[in-house]
Amino acid sequence: MRPNSDAPIGIFDSGIGGLTVAYAIKMLMPNERMIYYGDTAHLPYGDKSEATIQACSVKIADFLLGKGCKVIVIACNSASSAAYELLKEFSRKKARIINVIDPMVNYVREHYSTGVVGLIGTKRTIASNVYVEKIRNSGNRIAVNSLATPLLVPLIEEGFFDDKISREIIENYLQSPLLENLNALILGCTHYPLIKEQISDFYEGKVMVLDSSRVVAQSLKGYLTAEQLLGDHHQPQHEFYVSDYTDSFEASTKIFFKEQVSLQKMALFD
Ligand code: DGL
Repeated sequence: MRPNSDAPIGIFDSGIGGLTVAYAIKMLMPNERMIYYGDTAHLPYGDKSEATIQACSVKIADFLLGKGCKVIVIACNSASSAAYELLKEFSRKKARIINVIDPMVNYVREHYSTGVVGLIGTKRTIASNVYVEKIRNSGNRIAVNSLATPLLVPLIEEGFFDDKISREIIENYLQSPLLENLNALILGCTHYPLIKEQISDFYEGKVMVLDSSRVVAQSLKGYLTAEQLLGDHHQPQHEFYVSDYTDSFEASTKIFFKEQVSLQKMALFD
């Protein structure tokens, strides 16, 4: 059955970091209704196996399809790299699956024909090599140098993104010889838009820092427009679910979504 334009957009992440993508979607398409699921019980995905991330992603996609979502956005690079192909199979024609990697790969292909692009992300995203392969297959002569930066997610989650500690850890990672002589740096994790400014400061504005949240929202809008699926809700009522609830998760939503939202606990796992 063809989805209808009134249906909500489903979005999920390992936790609340994917709210950076939800925020970009809200800014670009204020008349869309969103259903967000953060798998806080299994956070972080970045150091889990591919099989675990796939199992969690299928459960969440099933939940979002059950809610009638017209499209599902995997607002997590780790899940996009581990479970995108599987979710496409799983969802079949019920809802289009959008990942956060392809829109960024397309952006890089359109804006860079040669040079060196750096990539930082979780251990899972970097180990998957998905960005490297997709950019290589895009036909441009771009080298991708990647580095896993696992301390950044807990740092951001704990609210350290503009102080001495965060600056030192960010600098330590970015000084890696792997990230020398870059033309651009991809932020391959949906938590990292929160430290984009600090990263740009490190490069003194000489390296373009590419944050996928807006690129993903634009790609989603392109799809909804082409398929005549754009919503027209006035003051849409979004829903936010998590697999595990704590007050601190709820308080942190303000960091990622620029407003505090009320989280409902919805356990999908035994
Ligand atoms: N937001 C997730 C991502 O984009 C990282 C958080 C995690 O490790 O679960 O990969």
